[in-house]
Amino acid sequence: MTDKVTLSVIKADVGGYVGHSSMHEDLMKEAEERLEPAKRDGMLIDFHVSRVGDDLELIMTHRKGVDNTEIHQLAWKTLECCTGVAKKLKLYGAGQDLLGDAFSGNVKGMGPGVAEMEFVERESEPILVFMADKTSSGAWNMPLVKMFADPFTTIGLVISPAMHDGFRFEVQDVLEHKRIYFDCPDEFYDLLVFVGACARYMIRAVYHRGTDEIAAVSSTQRLSVIAGRYVGKDDPVLIVRCQGNFPAVGEALEPFAFPHMVEGWMRGSHHGPLMPVSVEQSNPSRFDGPPRVVCLGFQLCNGSLVGPRDMFDDPSFDETRRQANLAGEYLRRHGPFEPHRLPLGEMEYTTMPGIMERVADRFEELAD
Ligand code: F6R
Ligand code: MG
Ligand code: MG
Repeated sequence: MTDKVTLSVIKADVGGYVGHSSMHEDLMKEAEERLEPAKRDGMLIDFHVSRVGDDLELIMTHRKGVDNTEIHQLAWKTLECCTGVAKKLKLYGAGQDLLGDAFSGNVKGMGPGVAEMEFVERESEPILVFMADKTSSGAWNMPLVKMFADPFTTIGLVISPAMHDGFRFEVQDVLEHKRIYFDCPDEFYDLLVFVGACARYMIRAVYHRGTDEIAAVSSTQRLSVIAGRYVGKDDPVLIVRCQGNFPAVGEALEPFAFPHMVEGWMRGSHHGPLMPVSVEQSNPSRFDGPPRVVCLGFQLCNGSLVGPRDMFDDPSFDETRRQANLAGEYLRRHGPFEPHRLPLGEMEYTTMPGIMERVADRFEELAD
């Protein structure tokens, strides 16, 4: 036990309604009913159940620190119960992200996405929880770089003494399971050479350089790597602390005014624009997309989650949504061709090995 507060966001797709487009309300009710007793007993300070597309999001606060077995077990049990409801209703892909049969102390590597941070709550603690569907964790790279290292997005880097020294980025190589830190602005170009390759190098966390305080943390699981076969894109989450030493709420939201291209969309095998929407509008339907991001804002009050505010439920993002539709339409016209379709190695579905085997002996050597 500590006087620090921990914010844990644990999410999984445990069944879609209809297909992979959205979530049945009974799953959210079930999750609330499972988490309520933990709040009554004091294991959780507070919780909020939400969703983006077909992903169930458990947003929880407590004082047990990150990677805590009891909290992860609570989340796992809750997701299992929700899977039970999904099975009863024959929802689509019931339990698809729960890869293990037996809980082994930590949900990491078992399918659910996890972003957690522990910190001393400030006098006022504004927090943003970003959640995306039909894409993968690399989708956060560009927004995080813009939030914490780009003065054209975050003017605080230039004119706020609290942020002028910049931020430290923790980058994970998700294939080699290694990590490296880059200090910005000094090492900005070094950072970009890695994190511009979003499928492999993912920003895991960001720290304030003056105080070492945690500023942001993302989920960096790649389900396809964990499972060794396709089981759904990992549909990532991201927590960002705002104001004071950190970007203002508006600076943290600003990167999403550009609907940048991400991996995901139909069959996890396409590029598409990331469209910021309200929870209500997070139902990726056209060609199972385009990919969506929602953002819930909270004020923490001694660990209680005051909120949420649905941050992209704002007409100032209408133009972004229109641009996303235009960019999506432009890409869709490419059909099965790159760059809409992902390169061979990045597609989550492929028929290539079978077809190659069938036609291999029809390939003729070229003379030169
Ligand atoms: C992408 C996604 C969907 C499915 C597609 C096929 O992340 O979830 O686009 O890949 O609907 O789904 P299955 O293989 O379940 O029929
Ligand atoms: Mg699904
Ligand atoms: Mg999903």
